[in-house]
Amino acid sequence: MTDPEPIASGPVPEPRKPMTLPRFVAAKAAGRKLAVLTAYDALTARLFEEAGVDALLVGDTVGVVVQGHPTTLPVTVEQIVYHTAAVVRGRDAGGGRAMVIADLPFLSYQTSVADAVRNAGRMLKDAGAEAVKLEGGGVDHGETIAAIAGAGVPVMAHIGLKPQSVHAVGGHRVQRDVDALVADAVGAEAAGAFSIVLELVNDETAQAVTEAVGIPTIGIGAGPHCDGQVLVGADMLGLNPGFAPKFLKKYADLGAETLRAAAAFCEEVRDGAYPAAEHTHD
Ligand code: KIV
Repeated sequence: MTDPEPIASGPVPEPRKPMTLPRFVAAKAAGRKLAVLTAYDALTARLFEEAGVDALLVGDTVGVVVQGHPTTLPVTVEQIVYHTAAVVRGRDAGGGRAMVIADLPFLSYQTSVADAVRNAGRMLKDAGAEAVKLEGGGVDHGETIAAIAGAGVPVMAHIGLKPQSVHAVGGHRVQRDVDALVADAVGAEAAGAFSIVLELVNDETAQAVTEAVGIPTIGIGAGPHCDGQVLVGADMLGLNPGFAPKFLKKYADLGAETLRAAAAFCEEVRDGAYPAAEHTHD
């Protein structure tokens, strides 16, 4: 005997399923855009998880956003392991569905393929991530991507502007060599990457790259034709008031709100308004 049909009282929202690698890749063919945000701590990861992101990227932008360095270059493997473990705990506390992707920092994969596999493996083994990202594509890092993927670690490539090469390319500028970018993307897919971040390229270039590969492209400053978008969480929350590149949309003004709240706290401590009776223990 079969159970009776439930009486529907309206559209039933589909329960969110954990974002596995096959589901992430299949989103492209299904035409479902992927939403990715960076996070570096458990508190933020939990909120982004509850908001419904598909993936949390523990980017090496932690070096700029959290540590205050001018570039991402000083970030270490230990620091990414530490922040990734915190993000995994926050993600799990919020429901545990988003994929956590750990960024491989400068000199953690460029020195040798063995170093790359070992450091990528640590992100899964010691930090609990489901995938890693490295800056590069098939042309310059095909062998490394293949070795990491071959060890069972899902790899996201990153082409266009590669901030770890900021000194080599002379600054943060739009990357325009379509043929080279398509070759890098196609090579990344052939080497076994499951997705590609595409940073700071124009719309036409992003469209050409996106159409050339079967894996999802995740854009940042790369226009609407990518299969998904990633933003630095703190930037889109408006926590960095002075940072306003053209591609960035600020979905909140938490910088101003934080200033207001902290100034109010200082004033109330100084004039004795805080703590009031309701804030004190009997
Ligand atoms: O490190 C990072 O946060 C990134 C994103 C900006 C894509 O690579």
